[in-house]
Amino acid sequence: MTSHHEQPSRERFTAYYGLPTAPWDIGRPQRAFVEAGDRIGGRVLDCGCGTGDLAIWLAGRGQAVTGVDFLAGPLGAARDKARRAGVTVNFLEMDAAAVGEIPERFDSVTDCGLFHSFDDAARGAYVAALRRLLEPGARVFILCMSTDEPGEQGPRRLSEPELRAAFADGFTVESIEPARFEVVPGIAGAEFSPGGARALFATLRRV
Ligand SMILES: C[S@@+](CC[C@H](N)C(=O)[O-])C[C@H]1O[C@@H](n2cnc3c(N)ncnc32)[C@H](O)[C@@H]1O
Repeated sequence: MTSHHEQPSRERFTAYYGLPTAPWDIGRPQRAFVEAGDRIGGRVLDCGCGTGDLAIWLAGRGQAVTGVDFLAGPLGAARDKARRAGVTVNFLEMDAAAVGEIPERFDSVTDCGLFHSFDDAARGAYVAALRRLLEPGARVFILCMSTDEPGEQGPRRLSEPELRAAFADGFTVESIEPARFEVVPGIAGAEFSPGGARALFATLRRV
């Protein structure tokens, strides 16, 4: 992963997916989302869905799920996985800043490792898109790397105050809990704390 905190480009994400495994692509949903599963209700939008493990897991629980990513490669892998799993997910190639244009209603948005990749400008555009997309009561669930994770490699870290500030307009914070971001072991440049990178799991509600 990056050794600095510039927003990774499409090319950089494409390069990660060209590795035998991208560091975050653990082949199952992150534990933080599994533990929150019962709270992730209704129609779900998974932003930055990658190769689809979280979206497919949610669809397997009987939920209507749309997954959005800006790269065709991982979306192709996600469609194959969904077919093999026998579930239907609506996978869309789209920039996350454009999700406000999706003409559907969602009760929940999941974001596993997307938000923490954004620079300040992209954060603002994304939160504005979510504000536009969601109606009061809808929830956003975010797993992001925490400032508690030592070192500099990997994605930009977020603190609880930064998360609160990013969602101050149009959202209320229901909870922000310490969590872990599980990664594929043994990838150079993606070594984090044992048990997974220290992370935050945030639940925001549209007001
Ligand atoms: C760290 S990966 C996480 C993927 C997946 N959520 C998971 O947990 O395996 C971030 C994903 O967000 C996608 N992404 C990054 N910036 C994006 C943007 N602006 N719009 C849509 N997708 C984006 C990348 O292509 C990548 O698949």
